[in-house]
Amino acid sequence: MNKIALGVTSSISIFKAADIIRLFQKEDLTVQVIMTDRATNFIQPEFFTALSGQPTIVKLFDQKKHPIEHITLAAEISLLLIAPATANIIAKLASGLADDFLSTFYLAVKSPVLIAPAMNEAMFLHPQTQANIKKLRDLGVAFVEPESGYLACGQQGSGRLASPEKIVQISLRLIRQQPVFKDKLIVVTAGPTREALDPIRFLSNRSSGKMGYELAREAYERGAEVVLISGPVELPPPAGIKVEKVISAEDMRQAVLKYYDRASVVIMSAAVSDFKFSQTSQEKIKKEDLPSAIKLDRTPDILEELGRLKRGQLLVGFAAETSEPKVRAQEKMKRKKLDLMVVNDVSRHDIGFESDDNEVYLLWPDGRERLIGKTSKKKVSREILTEIGAMVNGRKGNN
Ligand code: C5P
Repeated sequence: MNKIALGVTSSISIFKAADIIRLFQKEDLTVQVIMTDRATNFIQPEFFTALSGQPTIVKLFDQKKHPIEHITLAAEISLLLIAPATANIIAKLASGLADDFLSTFYLAVKSPVLIAPAMNEAMFLHPQTQANIKKLRDLGVAFVEPESGYLACGQQGSGRLASPEKIVQISLRLIRQQPVFKDKLIVVTAGPTREALDPIRFLSNRSSGKMGYELAREAYERGAEVVLISGPVELPPPAGIKVEKVISAEDMRQAVLKYYDRASVVIMSAAVSDFKFSQTSQEKIKKEDLPSAIKLDRTPDILEELGRLKRGQLLVGFAAETSEPKVRAQEKMKRKKLDLMVVNDVSRHDIGFESDDNEVYLLWPDGRERLIGKTSKKKVSREILTEIGAMVNGRKGNN
């Protein structure tokens, strides 16, 4: 089912519902908006009709529509999200009142329900509101905690609607989670590492981190616990995911090892620097003092070490090659004891690196291979996680 019902109530943050709709549409999901009567005092239903492409529902038993629309719609959706949710709708749902479309609809819905509250801090923290939230949580309703910050009433405090990105990320996890990823820890590394010469100069690799961030998002949506170990990149941290920021290859190694025992899967998509400076300086080295040749040492090969320490974890490596990509990647897969190798041909300019698109070969130790033709990094990460899910299910590992 590709339809989501979005309940919109009368909070001043109602305008953020527009971003929520847009983010769902980018995921090829149809959004059916349901407004409370009072929400229409802030925004006309036609606004959401135009944005969503679906006629906004406000009234129960609309003469022009199916007489029991709340029942027919309930069977069509994969999630009911209420964002923003006022103290009033939360109280109504907690007590089972059904006096308008949204509250009646809630009682008819069998799919997951997610509520994103937005209200003044005193109202949110009031024991009555907290008791209502607890009651709904006990009934299986999920909540997106409001954030702290500047509130419409002019005060600072908690009660501000969570960001649309976070609300959508949590929604996607509710509708896309798969049993195979439940209680599994997936560690993803992303971006480049930087090896410092002094506080100003460093050695690094070309990498935007986009592929790794998409892989982490995809793993989170499928229900895994995700730790994203990220080198320095320009990307915002993905909502809901624990991010460990690192700089050097040694930092990355230590961060990965910290989680390795507990991990079911490690996806090393980071472009780890192969070299570091033999000698570094805490102070900026003066130009006149810079030697004409600088000695380099190898950085630790994290994957190779993980391969040696492996006890049931699935190891996924990435290879960026400019010539004979598949042959070289096969050799690395064997040496590092990997279970899956993702191969990029980085001699091409239309894919990889800073691009939003990629085209990769997947190679397995048994000689099987699969081409994922040029598509967005989001779609590539979807395919990779589908393959990883099948491998975890079948426990086909290179142990
Ligand atoms: O040998 P090469 O660097 O091409 O191997 C690429 C794979 O190994 C990537 O998955 C990368 O994250 C990982 N790697 C590593 N430690 C290094 C260098 C690369 O884990 N020092």
